[in-house]
Amino acid sequence: MILLDGKKVSNDIKDEIKAEVDKMKSQGEKVPHLAAVIVGDDGASLTYVGSKVRACERVGFESTMVRMKHTTSEIELLHKIKELNEDDNIDGFIIQLPLPPQINTQKVLMAVDPSKDVDGFHPENFGKMALDMSTFIPATPFGILELLERYDVDTKGKHTVVIGRSHIVGRPMSILMSRKGWPGNSTVTLTHSNTKNITQIISQADIVISALGVPNFLKAEMVRDDAVVIDVGITRVDDDSKPRGYRIVGDVDFENVSKKSSFITPVPGGVGPMTIAMLLKNTLLAREQRMG
Ligand code: GUN
Repeated sequence: MILLDGKKVSNDIKDEIKAEVDKMKSQGEKVPHLAAVIVGDDGASLTYVGSKVRACERVGFESTMVRMKHTTSEIELLHKIKELNEDDNIDGFIIQLPLPPQINTQKVLMAVDPSKDVDGFHPENFGKMALDMSTFIPATPFGILELLERYDVDTKGKHTVVIGRSHIVGRPMSILMSRKGWPGNSTVTLTHSNTKNITQIISQADIVISALGVPNFLKAEMVRDDAVVIDVGITRVDDDSKPRGYRIVGDVDFENVSKKSSFITPVPGGVGPMTIAMLLKNTLLAREQRMG
């Protein structure tokens, strides 16, 4: 079993990005600037955005966290997005999801200037991704591709089973794993809450990518020997022995599944840190594209 060490690889990527930023600085160029908008005070969202801002500091990016009340109206948020679209100082920005119920997420994602959409959630960018055109790839799927690439995992002709069809992970992942090229060229089954015989389908997978959010869903007896297992789950489970009062648990029963798998991501320290590194990478790309 080889551990797909997202913590290590994400640190390598951050070092590479920092080297680029240092070069920009030495040439007197403006460094990349990422803004993150967070509406409301959901604990998990605040933690994620906090990590994104800290990661910016680590690589020498400028960053701005925009905090808005949970009662923010759709109009107010759209107005803020317009401001960020027009602000020449900002190279890329994200709207942290989920948004409160009074706000239409689709409308909000459509309002982001595609050239600043470093999450890759705008339909223009999502469409380009599906058509193999160069664009911003959503950070979590992008991070998984990068892990597969850096560990030289063979994906050609393999059967990839994706669990979960979210717009952020499962859907884009299924598109990317089926595209021509590497990592990719695999035969993809996208499974979800209405899938029949899901256990049987998973048992036929060479590569399993679980983005379900159900702790310990994937058990050793469900996966084939030597499967590649990618765990995207990050569920908070109460744990009084931890200073924060909770721990993060993945979708995979790591202890037992790892004994059967060829490659596997741990939680924490697998996909999570990769997501942040790839958001930085997209922001660097956004800066470079704005410079022309
Ligand atoms: N919520 C959960 N994952 C993400 C992400 O990658 N980007 C944003 N903006 N919100 C999220």
